[in-house]
Amino acid sequence: MVALDFPGAVEADRCVGILEGTGVYVKIGMQLYYAAGPDYVRQMKEKGYSIFLDLKVHDIPNTARGAMQSIAGLGIDMVNVHAAGGRKMMEAAREGLEKGTPAGGKRPLLIGVTQLTSTTREMMNDELGIEGSVEECVVRYARLVQQAGLDGVVASPKEVPLIKEACGASFLTVTPGIRPKGTDTGDQHRITTPEEAFKLGSDFIVIGRAITQAANPKQALHDILEGVKQYAN
Ligand code: C5P
Repeated sequence: MVALDFPGAVEADRCVGILEGTGVYVKIGMQLYYAAGPDYVRQMKEKGYSIFLDLKVHDIPNTARGAMQSIAGLGIDMVNVHAAGGRKMMEAAREGLEKGTPAGGKRPLLIGVTQLTSTTREMMNDELGIEGSVEECVVRYARLVQQAGLDGVVASPKEVPLIKEACGASFLTVTPGIRPKGTDTGDQHRITTPEEAFKLGSDFIVIGRAITQAANPKQALHDILEGVKQYAN
């Protein structure tokens, strides 16, 4: 998945050109969605892209349900909520998504965000007041996400083996925090290379800046795809 973290449709479209024919998913997150809105999502669907709408919904159950009902009408393929919103919120989100999916359509995959890949143990313990290791928290959240009937989680690739052990092989893992060798870490902490992420069992890897901010994005994407093609399915 390529994260289209751009300020608007014009900038995003410059990048979309390089994705044509590669079969990659696009991830539309808050920055682009809040600027370009549902129309941009519909346009990308019309172009044939699979879309992960990364809006990380976190609200009271009734609002999460309504948000998901609206989102389902966009025909996207995957969407997410924060696991920290709790079981009732996640169940309501799933119900909203089911209700909003057009008759005969397929419900988008619903994924729970565990701990952001920019979060460290110190931040989690000292600022958020959550004790223990990040791994322990991620596995606890993953179990909760599964109990709420969601399809998988967003986590660091480093946590994938523990998640699969706790929730089973078919429970999906979507992993940002990917940095090909020699690229900038930026604000991410719990990172691996694309190859390592798939070796650890990730189902989907999410890459933003390592492609979008590369001197030659097309080449960067090509190199990454070459490196991981043995894992493609
Ligand atoms: O540029 P970079 O590859 O770090 O982008 C990662 C993308 O994944 C960003 O769009 C970010 O919002 C998203 N993401 C993340 N960590 C999560 C969930 C989503 O980095 N836990």
